[in-house]
Amino acid sequence: MKLGIIGAMEIEIELLRDDLELQNTLHKAGMDFYQGILHDKEVVLVRSGIGKVNAAICTQILIDQLNVDQIIFTGVAGAIDTTLEVKDIVISTDLVQHDMDASAFGHREVGEIPELDKVSFAADKNLISLAEDIGEEVTKQEDIQVVTGRILSGDQFIANKNKVKELKETFGGFCTEMEGAAVGQVAYLNDTPFVIIRSISDSADEEADISFDEFVKVAASHSYQIVTRMLDRL
Ligand code: ADE
Repeated sequence: MKLGIIGAMEIEIELLRDDLELQNTLHKAGMDFYQGILHDKEVVLVRSGIGKVNAAICTQILIDQLNVDQIIFTGVAGAIDTTLEVKDIVISTDLVQHDMDASAFGHREVGEIPELDKVSFAADKNLISLAEDIGEEVTKQEDIQVVTGRILSGDQFIANKNKVKELKETFGGFCTEMEGAAVGQVAYLNDTPFVIIRSISDSADEEADISFDEFVKVAASHSYQIVTRMLDRL
């Protein structure tokens, strides 16, 4: 079993890279794919860069060239559910591209990918349930919430209360970020199990940039904690 682990930014992968026993690095498409052993598991760790295109390229390379069997994405997100606070964790049930819109043709929903006829990409049930088990343990030790639900992705850093309201009303979901649904689409097309783990860094409102800068590190470390504990049980 070989696991691919993706984070979009350096801060989202640096703790994992510190732990990794590095064996090899593949440089491709502007990305470094670190191959090695992490918590006794064979992994490929990579920083995809920000946005859906980067995430899609990265996921396809992990599958085609590095032969990973499963993929976990670790990182931070903006909350769109008002019950969530900074550091809380969202485990993906499914992922939606909130900026995909071909609804002008009448027969398509907002978010629906033309030709695939799908609005959302479901994460793997086993990976979800493993993350949930660990989430339950974490909530006993720390004062954070861990929820399982829909995650939205788009090529936009959301920093607007009205936009958050619109996203929540249109798609539901708990948080918004910029990569997960692209990983989901590529994983779906390649029949590869995946899950997205996100920790909240901001509320995607007008103060999102300030909150992000203040909390990105601690939020990233919370997501890292879940992922490393998952590795121990895979
Ligand atoms: N990642 C973290 N916060 C975000 C936000 N507000 N919008 C999009 N991606 C994010």
